[in-house]
Amino acid sequence: MNAPELLVGINTGDDAAVYQLSDDIALVQTVDFFPPIVDDPYQYGAIAVANSLSDVYAMGGKPLIALNIVCFPVAMDRAILGEILRGGQDKATEAGILIVGGHTIDDAEPKYGLSVTGLVKPGAHVCNVGARPGDVLVLTKPIGTGIITTAGKAATVRPKALEEAIRIMATLNAAASEAMVEVGVNACTDVTGFGLLGHLLPMATGSNVSATIHMSSVPILPDAIALAEEGVVPGGTHRNLEDVSPSVDWATDIAEVERLLLSDAQTSGGLLISVSSDKAATLMEALQQRGVESAVIVGEVTEAAEKPIRVTR
Ligand code: CO
Ligand code: CO
Repeated sequence: MNAPELLVGINTGDDAAVYQLSDDIALVQTVDFFPPIVDDPYQYGAIAVANSLSDVYAMGGKPLIALNIVCFPVAMDRAILGEILRGGQDKATEAGILIVGGHTIDDAEPKYGLSVTGLVKPGAHVCNVGARPGDVLVLTKPIGTGIITTAGKAATVRPKALEEAIRIMATLNAAASEAMVEVGVNACTDVTGFGLLGHLLPMATGSNVSATIHMSSVPILPDAIALAEEGVVPGGTHRNLEDVSPSVDWATDIAEVERLLLSDAQTSGGLLISVSSDKAATLMEALQQRGVESAVIVGEVTEAAEKPIRVTR
């Protein structure tokens, strides 16, 4: 699969493919869909669309048009599907994109998402590799939504905490993406199913660098910490930690619960951006100006060490 027009393909494990059409325009193409993570069908639809668009934003692209991908049981109330699609449509309208069609099949469990086509200027696209020693790592949304939505399914979460997690997941990464494109950054990925460390790992190894995360700087939803301490942790989060742990140099004072939190499987998480340190303040300012108030510096990039990730207090 080698064509000169294919600027980003499957080899780098990037969030989306980038295919050059002319000197000025490249297509950004991606697909994402998943089963319900919250009970409210409208919110589920909105989150699914925010998440599907995120892979285009993570590449520094602008989404343009999309197709619905729907799995829905024939026996289930059609009104629920209507609500899912309404949530998705409203989020698409907020993003300024058009949903121009789609496909539905019968399936035992509902699933929803989009295939998204976006545009980016060739060369201005941001890959998940390219981080350089001396870079600063910025995370634009707090983590812990996987733990909170798991507790939400068992109804063991404070309604306010679930509401806040839903608001965060449904927030578009559009403003964060615009800010990073304006400032110019070295690498970016969005934090989703593999968790913060699971998405940082390919960025570090693919860039031939090591990354240090400062535990105390990582924004974590307070209820997620409490729930994790009670043992409410999704299976995917445990698997993420098992997978990433051999690649992590843990400071001895990082507790098991904290390790799990850093590995928590996110749905529609924030952007993880590697930016040169001299541009870090400008990026933080650009993010604040666009209302991405939860963005924080969570670590930095160093020369490659024995382990690709180090977690310190
Ligand atoms: Co992604
Ligand atoms: Co994705």
